[in-house]
Amino acid sequence: MEIKKNDFLEVEILDIGINGEGIAKIDNFPIFINGAITGEFVKIKILKVNKNFAYGKLIEIIKKSEKRIEPICEHFGACGGCSLLHIDYDYQLDIKTNFIKSNLKKIANLDFNVERAMGMKNPLAYRNKASFPISYQDNLKIGFYKPRSHNIVNIENCIIQSPINEPIIAKLRKFIEINNISVYDEKTGKGILRHIITRVGNKTGEVMVCLVINAKSFAYENELVLALKDIENIATIVLNFNTKNTNVILGDKTKTIYGKGYITDYIKDLKFNISPLSFYQINQVQTEILYKTALDYCQLSKDEIVFDAYCGIGTISLFLAKECKMVYGIEIIEDAIENAKQNAKENKIENAKFLVGKSEEVIPNLIFKEGIVPDTIVVDPPRKGCDKALLDAIGKTEVKKLVYVSCDNSTLARDIAYLKQYGFRLEKLQPVDMFCMTCHIECVAQLKR
Ligand SMILES: C[S@@+](CC[C@H](N)C(=O)[O-])C[C@H]1O[C@@H](n2cnc3c(N)ncnc32)[C@H](O)[C@@H]1O
Repeated sequence: MEIKKNDFLEVEILDIGINGEGIAKIDNFPIFINGAITGEFVKIKILKVNKNFAYGKLIEIIKKSEKRIEPICEHFGACGGCSLLHIDYDYQLDIKTNFIKSNLKKIANLDFNVERAMGMKNPLAYRNKASFPISYQDNLKIGFYKPRSHNIVNIENCIIQSPINEPIIAKLRKFIEINNISVYDEKTGKGILRHIITRVGNKTGEVMVCLVINAKSFAYENELVLALKDIENIATIVLNFNTKNTNVILGDKTKTIYGKGYITDYIKDLKFNISPLSFYQINQVQTEILYKTALDYCQLSKDEIVFDAYCGIGTISLFLAKECKMVYGIEIIEDAIENAKQNAKENKIENAKFLVGKSEEVIPNLIFKEGIVPDTIVVDPPRKGCDKALLDAIGKTEVKKLVYVSCDNSTLARDIAYLKQYGFRLEKLQPVDMFCMTCHIECVAQLKR
């Protein structure tokens, strides 16, 4: 049967796609339908037909899934953030576990017994970092992008973010309007304000506000400090300068205009300083579970040398250091390495050394030039996964244990498949739900030779 735009159809939902859409099939031709759940019968209107798939709009639910719940956010559907908010949380964990199983099968040709994703008792208000794009679209918009678009849904508060964002955003709206500050236009590259980034230390409550500016300086520093300095627990206000016409949010330069320039937080008993350009896991409660799993998978003994590639501010490295002889943390962002060195000092950890650079360059250098051979390697790359040069270097060593922390299970599956040629085999895989209500999932994988 040929499917055409504007057709009305009744279909059964067979699966959930990686962006949370229900998937129906007509003569094996997939149709993606936002808001539909596996097992449901729905009436849809075809919005768009591509060569290999179509998009449909949910018109009516004829048979409802028992996993369907009432989304608790008025922006559900319009905002591109929480695409699973209409699905019972426990079932979200099954869906995400299945994403991983299916990627391992499709990409690495592995039928693997993935552990069930570990979820949160309270899967709301868990994010410690928010990035709000700012734009002028009919009026001032501060919020989140709509699905598959750079149009912004205006948002006053967000149920997965810290509640501290509500007064911050309200004050910044006023600040922008009173001072008549221009906002960035992606098309023309003109306008000053690009993004608002907030961070909050879950254990300390310390707050950082960072304004991303499309200029080399900002004439309203004093007014900005006045607008925000009464926010509860404000530890620092910083400016970040990004004049590039790019989707990358942060530029390379920051300037502290109030407070200490970073926030402090604790993971278990370790204290961490976090600068604006440094990565820090966004879900504190689940990070403790994630790191414990990674540490267990390392099966360290006190005489081991460990490499922690993509180490950020040295969070995993410092936990590893407590259980081995020496850790080398490698990270590309200089500020993060400065944080890592300071964090080691403040936690009185002396067996951790931090090196700035690309893991795929620093690690081959350590192994093949300096002759430092690790017993265990931990990698925790960004979504694009590990560089092949790093995997080749690991492959050429005698290292027996590799623990891979991943925020994108398709690149994880790709890298697992690649490492097979070097004799690495996937032993265990534990997903941890760091991104409740969204389609994302974190994993820890143990590979051995
Ligand atoms: C997912 S984060 C993990 C950070 C840290 N392990 C943690 O748990 O907080 C990935 C980190 O890799 C860094 N990074 C990205 N590309 C890199 C590269 N080629 N070499 C080293 N670090 C890199 C990023 O700056 C970021 O800090």
